[in-house]
Amino acid sequence: MVPWLSEHYGNPHSGHSLGVESHQAMGQAVCQIAQLLNAPVDSVVMTSGATESNNLAIRGMCLHPRQKRRHIVTVTTEHPAVLDVFADLQSSGFRVTHVPVQQSGSANAGIVDLQKLEEAIDDDTALVSVMWANNEIGAIAPMTEIAGLCHDRGALLHSDATQAVGRISVDMIDVDIDLLSATAHKLYGPKGTGLLIVGNSNRRVRLNPQIVGGGQQSGIRSGTMNPAGIIGMATAMQLCNDGMQVHNDRVAQLRDQIWNTLNSQIEGLQLNGPDFDRERRLPGNLNLALPAIEGQAWMSAVPEIAFSSGSACSAAHSAPSHVLTALGIDESRARRSARFGVGRFNQVQDIQTACEMLVDGHSKLLALAH
Ligand SMILES: Cc1ncc(COP(=O)(O)O)c(C=O)c1O
Repeated sequence: MVPWLSEHYGNPHSGHSLGVESHQAMGQAVCQIAQLLNAPVDSVVMTSGATESNNLAIRGMCLHPRQKRRHIVTVTTEHPAVLDVFADLQSSGFRVTHVPVQQSGSANAGIVDLQKLEEAIDDDTALVSVMWANNEIGAIAPMTEIAGLCHDRGALLHSDATQAVGRISVDMIDVDIDLLSATAHKLYGPKGTGLLIVGNSNRRVRLNPQIVGGGQQSGIRSGTMNPAGIIGMATAMQLCNDGMQVHNDRVAQLRDQIWNTLNSQIEGLQLNGPDFDRERRLPGNLNLALPAIEGQAWMSAVPEIAFSSGSACSAAHSAPSHVLTALGIDESRARRSARFGVGRFNQVQDIQTACEMLVDGHSKLLALAH
């Protein structure tokens, strides 16, 4: 990214040689992104991140003047960047259905209930939005089946694939998704760069622009594009894609190491979310409930370890995680929960050290409580 912030600083939309140079490099990066997702190159819209992409996908599709259907469907465990857009559209007259997920205690806990989803989609359904993988519990949605259910009723499918891109295979042809959001900072790329794929080779999708102005990106998303961010995102996606399976095997082993170590030393731990199985759960995700201590207190007792008691995005709210409560987990257990994300740069020794500190912090809190 650095050369595109320093010596090659041309505005990619300018016709002079500096601009053309930026435009060409950025164009190559967009092609690389399209190839990695198996999407047509002209379907890629670059944004500031997944929040913007979700807003553009959902609002843009629903508010297009040729869109006549007035019902939209999503899932209870979605990120606020989807749920809040649905709430907004509901207040402007759209009928909204929130489909439940399978409940805690089942191997599929947190995975959307396909029967309820099928029942929810009707002939007035414009759009269904289902996240590919959940940010708190790592639950992976059966996207192929979901795409079939939507298209059978003439509805389009959007997926917030923020947690899936770069971690598991995401292919716009294999799965036939109409709109797909992702962000660079979840795959070791820069913050402030994201993408929306609009349509695929099977279907065209019309969007009403949400940001108007200079007409860049065919008028779908105006504003000067960010060559350094886009080149950074493409490179990060390529690196994540290369050797993904090998990294996932390693990351899953490290995640299991955390669970097994903590479970052997803290009595009464409970696992939140689906079973550890590649089809059901992201390999690096762990979400667990302590028997007696709140996740927030555990975090404060072990500040050296970067884990969280909810999602980073909702950590500012004091309410228990809406994802955990949607699984039927009660408020007390939700508050006693903590989430760990293993990264591809973690080593066995890091995990061992982290577990020792976590067990130690937990013991101190227990001693204080008694
Ligand atoms: C599933 C999901 N969607 C959307 C977002 C928001 O992404 P951004 O911060 O790039 O807007 C996040 C978290 O950061 C997320 O985990």
